[in-house]
Amino acid sequence: MQLQLAQLVAAATQEAVAVATRAELEAFKARVVGPNGSLTQVMKGMATLSKEERPVVGKLINEAKKSIEEILAALLVKVENAEIAAALGAAVDPTLPSPDAPAGSLHPLSRTRERILASFRKLGFVVADGPEVETEWHCFDALNTPADHPARDMQDTLYMPKAFRSADAPRKADEAILLRTHTSSVQVRTMLSRQPPFRIVAPGRCFRRDAVDATHSANFHQVEGLWIDRHVTLADLRGVLDFFVKETFGADAEIRLRPSFFPFTEPSFEMDLRSPNLGRLSNRWLEIMGCGLVDPKVLELCGLDPDEWSGLAFGLGLERIAMLVHGIDDIRHFYNNDTRFLRQFA
Ligand code: PHE
Repeated sequence: MQLQLAQLVAAATQEAVAVATRAELEAFKARVVGPNGSLTQVMKGMATLSKEERPVVGKLINEAKKSIEEILAALLVKVENAEIAAALGAAVDPTLPSPDAPAGSLHPLSRTRERILASFRKLGFVVADGPEVETEWHCFDALNTPADHPARDMQDTLYMPKAFRSADAPRKADEAILLRTHTSSVQVRTMLSRQPPFRIVAPGRCFRRDAVDATHSANFHQVEGLWIDRHVTLADLRGVLDFFVKETFGADAEIRLRPSFFPFTEPSFEMDLRSPNLGRLSNRWLEIMGCGLVDPKVLELCGLDPDEWSGLAFGLGLERIAMLVHGIDDIRHFYNNDTRFLRQFA
């Protein structure tokens, strides 16, 4: 009987190698420990043994049973691993990122900015840049803005503390440093650093001392445009702006230039837009940017000869355009980072 048990365990060990699926495991289990299994048969044979033989054989049977249980446990692990691998379709690599990780997306303001820049790039404009912390000269004086202009008031503009001024080494020791109120300061920096002709667009952050409400934010974004060349005319201004508006709001969109005033352009205009694709704002004239021909005084202040050079300039609010394009009714949505809002533009 001892020999029989040893053979039984050896045979089971050998057979186990071929077991690969759960069904094969069940069949194997039945052949060894099922009601008619080989081990069960041997155990039934116990009844025929004498009293003296039983404890000895019982011990051998228990050992064999333990070996078989170990084989079955190992087979179960093997079969389960095979099932998981099959379900995943491939070998598991735990270092890979989760397939369920939510993907990020561009902020609606970034999307709008890229769209606007893309339309001006088609007309040969390149992107230019300037600092958000600016000197009063670049933000106002060089743009022909008189010292008593209301925009320069402490009520409207965020000035840096005096201590900051000397640390930033301004042009003059007593020159004020401020957070730029518009991107028009990039006009000045570009004229001072590049040789015309050139066409630039300058997107960026601006700051005003505004109380925050549905249409005002103390921190907002503009896109500035400047084209300096010989013989730039109002026809060029109209052509550029009309192209931009049709690219952004559709071929049916129209523009209107309404006389206005800016210290740095002459003549100056507010540009209005009318489009049938703007939901409840369709077919109404909507003011969306300031523009004009660069004032000769500004060219002079920036080191360009106004008898040789001329230019056009425009400045638009990014938030305003994004709100019109997407029908957004409150500027504060852009800054709250509520993913229920942001997800709609993903
Ligand atoms: N800087 C002006 C503003 O912030 C807009 C503007 C830019 C007007 C360029 C004319 C030319 O309102």
